[in-house]
Amino acid sequence: MPASSTLGRAILPAVIGALIGGGGVAYLHRNDATSAAGSRATAVVSGAGARDDLDALRADIARLKTNAPSQSHTMSDVGYHWTNLWFAAEKKNWPLAMFYFQEARSHILWTIQLRPVRKGPDGNDVNLVPIFESIDTSAFASVANAIQTQNAAAFAAAYRETLQACYGCHKTNGLAYLRPEVPTEPAQSIINFDGSATWPQ
Ligand code: HEC
Repeated sequence: MPASSTLGRAILPAVIGALIGGGGVAYLHRNDATSAAGSRATAVVSGAGARDDLDALRADIARLKTNAPSQSHTMSDVGYHWTNLWFAAEKKNWPLAMFYFQEARSHILWTIQLRPVRKGPDGNDVNLVPIFESIDTSAFASVANAIQTQNAAAFAAAYRETLQACYGCHKTNGLAYLRPEVPTEPAQSIINFDGSATWPQ
């Protein structure tokens, strides 16, 4: 299967994730903006006041765009998930590790969805889609495989290999100062990393 269709399959959940995970501010505005846009779309189709309705739709779209989170926001999520992933695997809590892996992956896809083409340090376009496709089918696939086969040694190697790949994308985007490394402590403390924990029941 070509890598592009792998990504294609993944984009839909990412879009859904973007809608669900759009953040508190976006959520507050969603009901009025989307329902108004929906009824205007119906009006446009039926031909009533088409020009006003199109202007209103444009205004709604512009407003929704300004409510979208920044790539810094979604990449901070990736840093959070990827940090916790290390400690879940260290505790051999493989279901939790898979959760953090999938969250990180979907938030990279969300990052790409928000702005697929950025400006590189030389001013040329940098397309994030093929960069992530190559990581997804190599380093990310190795991490997923190590989690599935519950292989701690393979996991540690694949995790380090991925950090190189993370950094590769940062460098290509002129962000060479963003150097991910093996974390020294979890990004949060409210989730118990111990898979055999018995509390809460
Ligand atoms: C496809 C490209 C790409 C990949 C792959 C990628 N990143 Fe990023 N990352 C970015 C971009 C672009 C930014 C800057 C976003 C911005 O601020 O506009 C960024 C920023 C970050 C930040 C800083 C967020 C902040 O604003 O504080 C962290 C942390 C981060 N990435 C972690 C990771 C980790 C960990 C991985 C690998 C698991 C990874 N990234 C893989 C493109 C990528």
